[in-house]
Amino acid sequence: MLEVRHFTQVFGKFKAVDDISFSVKKGEVFGLVGESGCGKTTTGRAIVGLQPVTEGKILFAGKPIRKKHPTTQIQMIFQDPMASLDGRMTVREIIAEGLRIKGIKDRKILDEKVYEMMALVGLSREQASRYPHEFSGGQRQRIGIARALIMEPKLLIADEPVSALDVSIQAQVINLLQDLKEKLGLTVLFIAHDLSVVKYFSDRIGVMYMGKLVELAESEELFQNPLHPYTKSLLSAVPIPDPRREKNRVRIPYEPACSDPAAAFREVTPGRWVMS
Ligand SMILES: Nc1ncnc2c1ncn2[C@@H]1O[C@H](COP(=O)(O)OP(=O)(O)OP(=O)(O)O)[C@@H](O)[C@H]1O
Ligand SMILES: [Mg+2]
Repeated sequence: MLEVRHFTQVFGKFKAVDDISFSVKKGEVFGLVGESGCGKTTTGRAIVGLQPVTEGKILFAGKPIRKKHPTTQIQMIFQDPMASLDGRMTVREIIAEGLRIKGIKDRKILDEKVYEMMALVGLSREQASRYPHEFSGGQRQRIGIARALIMEPKLLIADEPVSALDVSIQAQVINLLQDLKEKLGLTVLFIAHDLSVVKYFSDRIGVMYMGKLVELAESEELFQNPLHPYTKSLLSAVPIPDPRREKNRVRIPYEPACSDPAAAFREVTPGRWVMS
């Protein structure tokens, strides 16, 4: 469904993303993980066509993404629900906006669709006339999800959709995404900065470090047998649900070796890639 080939993004003289390649298959959840600033959002924004690609290619259903005519079939949910929702618009206007841009003007049709989306994400239609600041963080993220889903996307890019939320609310939003994924047959690119959030949700995971992909594997394999030292370090930061083992958990710091000019992203076993 999605193919990212040798994607590089440069801002001024700074290489935010450096030659990454991965693909996302129809129906799967692909987790993209890495520390703050490693280039995850930049990658997501390029995929939805929000910024022109410096180098490389991004193909959706075999066709290149263009900034001028971005497809509505890819929608993104943003990291910070407060900043991504226009505070001067009601929830109804926010959720309906994409359809209005598409040219649908009939108020009744728009309202019906908005209510349907609100119900889908667990909001009530009575809340449609309210403004974003009147909602909790978790509810605001639901508004963002409804706004994305009303476009009936095939691919949903969820950019750290829960990192701004309380831990207790995080699980609710993840469960909602999981339900929606199944109900609507969505393909999801799920961005997160730690592995605990993507653990149960992703089929495959790509690990990014400073603009580069350092490892890519099926979720289970990555958790059972991480190969790259940075993945090992990320994994050592994931809390273990067993209190006795959790007490003895040792965090492994990552100390990057001097960058080896011969290092390349290599396929070590079928479907399993590591920078070495
Ligand atoms: N429009 C821009 N102009 C200049 N630099 C940018 C721009 N967008 C991103 N960057 C830089 O590119 C790097 C990667 O940013 P990006 O937002 O992709 O990180 P991220 O992995 O999403 O991090 P976080 O987990 O904090 O959201 C950062 O150093 C950031 O400062
Ligand atoms: Mg980001």
